[in-house]
Amino acid sequence: MIVALGADHAGAELKDRLAELLRREGHELIDRGTDSSESVDYPDFAEAVAADVSAGRADRGLLVCGTGIGMAMAANKIRGVRAANVRSVEEAELSRQHNDANILCLGARFIDPQVAEDVLNAWLKTDFEGGRHVRRVEKIGKLEGPQQ
Ligand code: RB5
Repeated sequence: MIVALGADHAGAELKDRLAELLRREGHELIDRGTDSSESVDYPDFAEAVAADVSAGRADRGLLVCGTGIGMAMAANKIRGVRAANVRSVEEAELSRQHNDANILCLGARFIDPQVAEDVLNAWLKTDFEGGRHVRRVEKIGKLEGPQQ
């Protein structure tokens, strides 16, 4: 799978740890930074990763900030993106099964790094269930309005 990654200063360390995990698992990465604890603005990184997913350059995206909240808010502004901010393996699985989430957002200040690894692994291996959820996910897409 091709996974686009991004983080702000609060999420950079966890993003780099998860990048190692993804490489070990054989995924191809598009790492959009940031790579240090120097203060940056999370929407810039959310936009870069969301654009990769929206354009099909990446199959999935991973965004890490302090809470995961700002990243999810920003990424969900981009057409075709369904970004989910989750804190547990169960939420990660449900975000795939029911919502077909294509970007995982994590809050580095609120999740244990080992749990974050478990969440990411579960999220990557869980399939969308389809069925009744297709109609609902399509309705999310319609909220984006007509393509310009
Ligand atoms: C940065 O201090 C913090 O606001 C950011 O990482 C994130 O939590 C925003 O949602």
